[in-house]
Amino acid sequence: MIYPDNRWKHAWDGFILFAVTFAAIEVPLRLVFGYTAKGWIFVADSLLAAIFLVDVVLQFYTVQSEQGRLIVDRSEVRRRYMKSWFVPDFLAALPFDLIFLLAGPLGLPALLAQRISRLVRMVRVLRLFHLAGILRTIQRQSTLHPGLLRMSILAYWILMAAHWVSCGWLAIVGSTGDPLLDYLNALYWCLTTIATVGYGDITPDRTNAVQLIYTMAVMVLGVGVYGYLIGNIATMIANLDVARAHHQEKMEQVTAFMRYRNIPPRLQSRIRNYYNYLWESRRGYDELSVITDLPDSLKADVVIHLNMEILEKVPIFRGSSNEFIRELVVELRPVVYTPGDYVFRRGELGERMYFVSKGRVEILTVDDIEIKATLGEGDFFGEMALLFHQPRTASARAAEYCDLYYLDRSTFDRVLRRYPEFKKKVVAFAEERSSRPHDAVAEGHASDV
Ligand code: CMP
Repeated sequence: MIYPDNRWKHAWDGFILFAVTFAAIEVPLRLVFGYTAKGWIFVADSLLAAIFLVDVVLQFYTVQSEQGRLIVDRSEVRRRYMKSWFVPDFLAALPFDLIFLLAGPLGLPALLAQRISRLVRMVRVLRLFHLAGILRTIQRQSTLHPGLLRMSILAYWILMAAHWVSCGWLAIVGSTGDPLLDYLNALYWCLTTIATVGYGDITPDRTNAVQLIYTMAVMVLGVGVYGYLIGNIATMIANLDVARAHHQEKMEQVTAFMRYRNIPPRLQSRIRNYYNYLWESRRGYDELSVITDLPDSLKADVVIHLNMEILEKVPIFRGSSNEFIRELVVELRPVVYTPGDYVFRRGELGERMYFVSKGRVEILTVDDIEIKATLGEGDFFGEMALLFHQPRTASARAAEYCDLYYLDRSTFDRVLRRYPEFKKKVVAFAEERSSRPHDAVAEGHASDV
């Protein structure tokens, strides 16, 4: 059985999309211009029939889904397909040109055979409805920008509709002999009418009821399509960059607030820098709030993916069990500090342990003047207060823009209780650090001291 997420199935669907589009364009054209299928058109028609036929066969082996439930059973799939799309799909797969070529010698008058052939070929257009299903699936599964995809699909349908409307117009007004110019004129009439531009240089013959009615119908259709299109384009443009719009709104709000509360200019600029850094480093997304609705297991997988970077950077995490990683990673929370910000100060009560993902953090000596150590990517700090239940032994200050992750005390305690191996590593670090003379100036990564 072929599953919906099969790569080859996607490629085949793309191929079918192309084939159906070709049929949907060519069938009405031939009906209007009444040319005979010769040369490459004949080849294309037979090829199209072959493709559609293969598709009918494949449908019998394609897993269907109904309300999220997969229907894998062969006979059930067959039964459903026979009841739904089989007949139109099969009719669309008949090689009409070939059949009527052969039917000629069988005694059917050639002209009649051709006429019937052209009409019957209309069933191929039915495949478009089937195609709508494929497009919906693409829309659901695609990782492309949803707004852009929606816009493309909308454009596809509108161009298709414009083509049919133009062919209809051609059928009514008749052609003058130059097929290309005739078609372009019809398309021009159709677009000016649908777009409600209505130049009025091509108009229905006032003595011809069919032309008048057709024009009015297209006008009514046009207003609907036009309104729908404009509405859609407006929302799509507004949604194209939701993140940036959100960031700008936030900045405006914050700036207005700071001005209202007379925040000192230096502090204002630090706040602005913070938001700008958030924007540059993660497009302003508050990662945890985006995925807050997900069920826990899915959330854990996403967070593991997001936090993979830090897990790989921190040496004491390396070689840990999957279980440990899963437990720890969902509890790691990202925080950002701008240059000069204190993460905490000496003597404060400590509730968090920090891991450095990006940037440098300085551990300061007693008087906050001398730098005891500079910690970088993959280092951690703030573990001593949690381990030994004591106030912070030193201050920590961001030396540049820093992306940190923290664990809070309750998680820290739980993880240490459950994973003695990890506890051993952390304790070893803490003891080594606390045994160092307080006034000694140590530079470099804690992990390599
Ligand atoms: P804590 O006491 O909670 O807060 C200050 C932190 O600085 C401390 O935990 C350690 O994580 C860290 N720290 C203290 N001394 C050193 C050192 N010599 N080298 C690196 N980090 C240190």
